Amino acid sequence: MDYSSFGDKFGRLSGITQLMDDLNEGLQNPDAIMLGGGNPAQIPAMIEYFDQLNQRLAATGALTQAMTNYDGPQGKDVFISALATLLKRTYGWDISEKNITLTNGSQSAFFNLFNLFAGKCPNGTNKKILLPLAPEYIGYADAGLSDDMFVSYKPEIEFIDNRQFKYHVDFEQLTVDESIGAICVSRPTNPTGNVLTDEEMQRLDALAQHHQIPLIVDNAYGLPFPDIIFEDVRPFWNANTVLCMSLSKLGLPGLRCGIVIASEAITKAMTNINGVLSLSPGSIGPLLGHEIIKENQLLALSANVIKPFYQERNAIAFDYLQQSIPDKRFRIHKPEGAIFLWLWFEDLPITTVELYQRLKKRGVLIVPGEYFFIGIDDQQWPHQRECLRMNYVQDIEAMKKGIDIIAEEVKNAYEG
Ligand SMILES: Cc1ncc(COP(=O)(O)O)c(C=O)c1O
Repeated sequence: MDYSSFGDKFGRLSGITQLMDDLNEGLQNPDAIMLGGGNPAQIPAMIEYFDQLNQRLAATGALTQAMTNYDGPQGKDVFISALATLLKRTYGWDISEKNITLTNGSQSAFFNLFNLFAGKCPNGTNKKILLPLAPEYIGYADAGLSDDMFVSYKPEIEFIDNRQFKYHVDFEQLTVDESIGAICVSRPTNPTGNVLTDEEMQRLDALAQHHQIPLIVDNAYGLPFPDIIFEDVRPFWNANTVLCMSLSKLGLPGLRCGIVIASEAITKAMTNINGVLSLSPGSIGPLLGHEIIKENQLLALSANVIKPFYQERNAIAFDYLQQSIPDKRFRIHKPEGAIFLWLWFEDLPITTVELYQRLKKRGVLIVPGEYFFIGIDDQQWPHQRECLRMNYVQDIEAMKKGIDIIAEEVKNAYEG
């Protein structure tokens, strides 16, 4: 079949689609050890809370009401107002309901934002999205309507005790010129668990403001919800920032509810895009979100249930990895947030795509690091073929079994 250029680009298998396929396939196979996807954990206290919330909403008729009506293209008003009030009260941000648009998951918000700020412009120029630090979230990689939408930079690597390392933005290398339409970072970062420091955020903000382009901050794991962030840092927003949030990592990925907090002008543009692409965003996520805010549980559950759960799992996975893989060439990115550990096997004789295939044959799913080095044009840089991402949200025994298999395969690979 002859497809258009759009069909050709979006109809082929992308990294993110392969990942979602593997995740889905793995979910059908009860023996698979799923250390790959970004599915949040099934936290018992959260499941119980959601069950009760659903029952209450069903009993009052609110659920049926939400299911049987479209919201406006900006998204459910009551949720937007309650969230604006909450953020204003919590952080003193100067926002109102005119600064928030909802989307069907934050993934689709990124598609809209990237194509809003980059690609072919009316004056004939071609703009790009700057990712100041690769590796970055795999879900951005194919989200440009035009090819080569992203420019990115290698990080500075700080070596830390206990075979850890941490990426930093290499501001010396970073160049912003008129070809850049927006800067984008995830904080905490998927895949690495890195959290950009407050100082890095301030410098990126200054750079964006200086060049009069927006700073897009992907806060899918950040503050104030779901609060999967283990460093003492401040959340960041001002009128030049586009802060993207989601209900997914709160434990509700099936509701596909993304939240974009931006200037009034960008909010209007995102609302208009929503109208064309989806008429209106889904209503169930915002219905639940609104109830959770009304019950004063959004920040409380994040801080008291979600964060401690992930922090504990993170520590178990970290210790078990350190113990299972004694090789000095193995390091872990300092876990500062998100639901992944980023493992680096320096001088690994095979690529991590090959390692992924070998692990998949043994029923363990991870994500090879190559996919995350979006926009890096230095093919000679071995680091990008030496890392992998594993999530640590699985059942602990299954995860340990998975780590044992990773340890064996890595040992085999090093020994050739
Ligand atoms: C960093 C990051 N941003 C955005 C998303 C998209 O999430 P959703 O579309 O479920 O809101 C994810 C999902 O894993 C993510 O890890």
